[in-house]
Amino acid sequence: MTPVTQQPDFIIVGAGVAGLRAAIGLAESGARVLVVTKEALAESNTHYAQGGIAVAIGGEEDVALHLDDTVNAGDGLVNREAARVLVEEGPRRVEELLRWGADFDRENGRLMLTREGAHSRNRILHAHGDATGAEIARSLLRHARAMKQIELQEWTTTIDLLHQDGDVVGVMLLDPEGHLRHVSARAVLLASGGAGQVYSDTTNPAVATGDGIAMAWRAGAEIADMEFYQFHPTALSLPGVPRFLLSEALRGERAWLRNAKGERFMERCHPLLELAPRDVVARAITREGIGAHGESLPVYLDMRHVTNIDPTIRFPGISKFLAEHGLALRRDLIPVRPAAHYLMGGIRTDVNGRASLPGLFAAGEAACTGVHGANRLASNSLLEGLVFGARAAETMEGADRRAQGSELREQGAGYSVPSERMRVDVVRVREQMQRLLWEKAGLLRDADGLRAAQRELAAMQTPDAMDRQALELRNLHTIGELMVAAALAREESRGAHYRNDFPKRDDARFGRHSVVMHGRSVRFADF
Ligand code: SIN
Repeated sequence: MTPVTQQPDFIIVGAGVAGLRAAIGLAESGARVLVVTKEALAESNTHYAQGGIAVAIGGEEDVALHLDDTVNAGDGLVNREAARVLVEEGPRRVEELLRWGADFDRENGRLMLTREGAHSRNRILHAHGDATGAEIARSLLRHARAMKQIELQEWTTTIDLLHQDGDVVGVMLLDPEGHLRHVSARAVLLASGGAGQVYSDTTNPAVATGDGIAMAWRAGAEIADMEFYQFHPTALSLPGVPRFLLSEALRGERAWLRNAKGERFMERCHPLLELAPRDVVARAITREGIGAHGESLPVYLDMRHVTNIDPTIRFPGISKFLAEHGLALRRDLIPVRPAAHYLMGGIRTDVNGRASLPGLFAAGEAACTGVHGANRLASNSLLEGLVFGARAAETMEGADRRAQGSELREQGAGYSVPSERMRVDVVRVREQMQRLLWEKAGLLRDADGLRAAQRELAAMQTPDAMDRQALELRNLHTIGELMVAAALAREESRGAHYRNDFPKRDDARFGRHSVVMHGRSVRFADF
């Protein structure tokens, strides 16, 4: 591991699909790019994406339908311009990926397409059955590694953005040896992914701590739509076992959901049955999982009737994980529960990745273009990373350098290396906060619970130490506060945000996006 060796033109925080695609675009223009990631390069939400990448490769009609499906899933809040960009530019970005060696699954030489919830046709490409994200990350990384303009720094934590007179001019990094470094650049792209770790039950890896969103907020950027957190309906539910994702593609291949009585309850809930929009299915599972006396009841995914595919071939990663816990898709009912999966909100950007501060860009799950509205259409997120990562790079190329390293203002004074006691506190507070947010700001919310969460978050002490775990906790705490504030302000139910005390959608008052900035309260705006 070597320290940063060259003064970059651009800094990218995060090495998932959006960050890597942007890095490739910038390097192609001749710029020097520093990509930093706090773990090994393979560790990102991208890597864990199973189901696939939605893309309209069937021509104009398919593009129009993909747009309709995206808009419909978003429950009245999709930014149509962003969605149009996504579906129209998607095919070009996927073709590029194929040229760079992405190995999507094929049958007789033709790309195989599957379906997931709320899609009106089969348009989801997949790789190695259920390892689509890993394959996309692998091909992008191989391409990026071959470009000498790109410097990839693993195990490097970004602490904060550096800013000068309101402009973002670089980042403050904590390198693997524990040294602080200030690095300036013409522009910074935050492609740091989501924040699933804010909840006790999540499909996200431990790295998903909302760092980019929290640091953009501290720097004064606009943050939007934080009340919209998507819960994946089917995570494995076994005591003591992580909430492993059971891809929606299983339901795309005709898996059913059954309650404790064995009923296929989605028949009572939605005409699309198990392939209804994710928020609908997640809430239905939650309700079926609570008995008449508040007791917890099991809900199952049932694939035993599906005989036209061999699940161990079509879903090898899932089958392997289940086998490690004594379960088989062909033989067993698989216990499932929803788990936090994808944040629709984030750093507010335009369709070119531009955030509200000069010099700051964002793309992928850390960003909020409004493309997903209140509920993301399944498998649109890998495509989002490719399309908006590429667009951010094109826009960043025009950015001028605003500061040199020597002129940068010092930030973060007062941090210290944590004591053993502080480390224990960090773990305890993190778990306490995750449980609190799951219970009070999870799938079903109301004002009392949200206010209680707000009070408890305000009373929580987050250690102010120069240490990755302490920094992550501080970022998660910020994310929790932003989510709760936005969820309280939105007194309606829409998409993934469901208020028991306001169960209806209210377009007149809330048909707009929530926006919040440091030191200000939540407002609602069109974009
Ligand atoms: C899944 O495979 O079900 C996840 C896909 C997604 O979140 O879009």
